[in-house]
Amino acid sequence: MITKNISAAVKELNKGNIIGLPTETVYGLAGNAWDEEAIKKIFNLKKRPLYNPLIVHIKSIDYVHEIATDIPDIAFKLANAFWPGPLTLILNKKEIVPDIVTAGKDTVAVRVPNHPIALSLLQEIDFPLAAPSANPFGSISPTNANHVYSYFKETLPVILDGDVSKSGIESTIVGFDKEDVIIYRLGSLSRETIEEVVGKVKVLNEDNESPIAPGMLSRHYAPEKDTFVTNDIVKFLSEATSKKIGLLSFNEEIEHPSIMHQEILSKSGHLVEAAANFYAALHRLDKSNVDIIVASYFPHKGIGIALNDKLKRATKKE
Ligand code: TXA
Ligand code: MG
Repeated sequence: MITKNISAAVKELNKGNIIGLPTETVYGLAGNAWDEEAIKKIFNLKKRPLYNPLIVHIKSIDYVHEIATDIPDIAFKLANAFWPGPLTLILNKKEIVPDIVTAGKDTVAVRVPNHPIALSLLQEIDFPLAAPSANPFGSISPTNANHVYSYFKETLPVILDGDVSKSGIESTIVGFDKEDVIIYRLGSLSRETIEEVVGKVKVLNEDNESPIAPGMLSRHYAPEKDTFVTNDIVKFLSEATSKKIGLLSFNEEIEHPSIMHQEILSKSGHLVEAAANFYAALHRLDKSNVDIIVASYFPHKGIGIALNDKLKRATKKE
């Protein structure tokens, strides 16, 4: 059931059930982070391998002490700058966090979401919420309640409706090696914005294909339809044998007889706007009557780097 009723969500969570949770990045599949049985339900629903840990959502920066320990000063600097917001910190976990949440690691991923409904909900419960993105493992992330419903239907007793996720792509995941800051997963907070606060950071596996965070697995965020990505859309179209093409374009409209459906993410050419529209456009293309999806790379700067990363993973076939 899609609803705006926060009390209904609280009731389900208190019973150990899983709900659809709106956040500013993407929707999550949320359950009581302290309750192993609830967490198992999340892994089962999502068909997610148990080696892939979850993010724990907390109500405020102060609450971080309940779940993490030995927190580096630089982590607080980042949390103060960007929480609530699309920044996930990898910190040393406290005993209380069940192993299933962290896939047996001694670190835990944590963030304060910047969404009024998520924050109100967190105020009304006395536990944090473990939540991966609310999509089956490997498929396109959800940015509205209907996306979540189309994946999970009535198996979720409550999907909280928090309108469209404003950032539109996942949080940026940051870990620490002593006082060094390392980006584990590129996301809606850009590297440049982080560097304004803490100086130079590393991006893990920047030029390497092997996964570090499972969000970095090669095939992820993927449509059902065969999906291609190119730097030269005109050339791709001139060589394409398919007659029904769905196009995902950053800012320009392309005319070509084979294009049956076209999604332009930001006519004014703004990467932040493009990110907000990205997954919803992919969902529409995947549902449309086209044979293949073709996307053009984004300008490789700011959040465009994260979008290009998602595109590559959406298109890779194993
Ligand atoms: O924006 C987001 O981050 C959304 C919303 C719902 O908050 N959540 C999300 O969760 O994207 P998920 O499960 O789709 O991705 C979580 C990522 C995975 O790539 C996982 O491997 C990584 O976080 N992760 C979790 N705990 C970790 C840890 N202790 N060390 C390294 N990576 C971790
Ligand atoms: Mg995900």
